[in-house]
Parts: sequence; C-alpha cells; structure tokens
Amino acid sequence: MEKYTPNLNIFDEKTQEVLLSLEKTQKEFWNIDRITANFLYIQILAMNAKKGIEIGTSNGYSGIWLGSAFKKTSGTLTTIEFWDKRQSVAIENFKIAGINNLITPKLGSAFNILEELAQEIKTEEEKFDFAFIDANKKEYIEYFKLLDPILTKGALICADNILSHEEKVQPFVQEITNNPNYQTQVLNIGTGILLSYKKN
Ligand SMILES: C[S@@+](CC[C@H](N)C(=O)[O-])C[C@H]1O[C@@H](n2cnc3c(N)ncnc32)[C@H](O)[C@@H]1O
Repeated sequence: MEKYTPNLNIFDEKTQEVLLSLEKTQKEFWNIDRITANFLYIQILAMNAKKGIEIGTSNGYSGIWLGSAFKKTSGTLTTIEFWDKRQSVAIENFKIAGINNLITPKLGSAFNILEELAQEIKTEEEKFDFAFIDANKKEYIEYFKLLDPILTKGALICADNILSHEEKVQPFVQEITNNPNYQTQVLNIGTGILLSYKKN
C-alpha cells in the first residue's frame, strides 16, 4: 500500500510540516493514518458536505484533514475532546493550518456535548451532514444514538477502528447495520473504517 500513500502537497508548507511532525507521534496520540485521513477528505469533497462533527479530536491530526476539506466546501467542523491538554494542542495546530476560523472545538464529554447540541439544533439546516467517530470504542453505540437525531437525511457517518477493536465496537456495528434507515459498509482501510449513509 505504501506506494499509494497520498503526498501532502494539497496543503501549504506550514501545514505539511505540522502533519509530518504529528505523524511521528501517531501511536502516542492515537491518530488515524494518512490513507484513512485522505479517504475521509475525499468523502467530504465528493458529497460536498457542509457541516461536520468529529468525536475524538486528540491533537488535531484528523481535524486538519477534515477541516481542510470543509474549507474547500465552505463548510464547518465541530470537534469534541474531553482531554484539555490535547484540545489545546489541537487548537494551536488548527491555527497553523489556517482553519481555526471554521472549526469549533468543544471541550467535554461527548455524551454531554451531543446532548447539548441536540437541545440547540432546531431545524434540518442546523443538523450535521458528516460525522466522524473516533473516541472510546465501547461508547460508539451511545455516540450513534445521540448523533442520529442531529444528522440530516443523506448524512454520512464514518467510524474508525472497526477491525482493530472489533469486539468493543460490535454492539455499534450491529445496531447501525440492522437499522433500516442506514446503509452500512465496513472497509479494510487503516484500522477499519465503517461508512454509513443515512437514507431516511
Ligand atoms: C483515537 S483519539 C482521536 C484521534 C483523532 N481523531 C485523530 O485521528 O487525530 C480519541 C480521543 O477521544 C478522546 N475521548 C475518548 N472518549 C471521549 C469522550 N467520551 N468524550 C470526549 N472525548 C473522548 C480521547 O481523549 C482521545 O484524545
């Protein structure tokens, strides 16, 4: 696969530097790999997504890719992290990448923040059309239940670590696969990506 690893020349020099340096500590910060990041980037552009939500910011590696795709679609990204030190690093990285103006970092438990968002969101236009789940693997099923009411019809859910943490994410995979409102596929990309289209 190595020869298919995307190069970083879609980014400016400073952003490339940040991404390269974050890739050196990928394991420590549990970041997605570059191929997965590029895959998500392509999904956002292809569907012209406008409003994204990420659960699990860490140091912002995936956020730089997602945010850069939303910059191209004139969209926005909300990203949730409960570890303040990680969130601060991510915010600095978003500034360097020049995408901090379109990203809303939310500090706190994904459960609380998703519940708050559900209270705030009143119209279909305010809902999210793209979600990336990449936090506590056992909690994926709960994130999904909280996300569902705040996703538009036609939204795409992507979730990471589906093959690397197969047992932990099993309840989520079963729930979403059996949900008639969603069309779901697991792909052997990176640590395993689940892709699910909200059709109803
Ligand atoms: C796998 S890392 C995210 C990596 C990031 N998406 C990337 O690829 O650059 C998961 C992050 O989710 C955070 N996290 C885990 N459970 C959470 C929860 N319930 N609420 C908020 N953040 C959570 C962890 O602190 C961790 O930084």
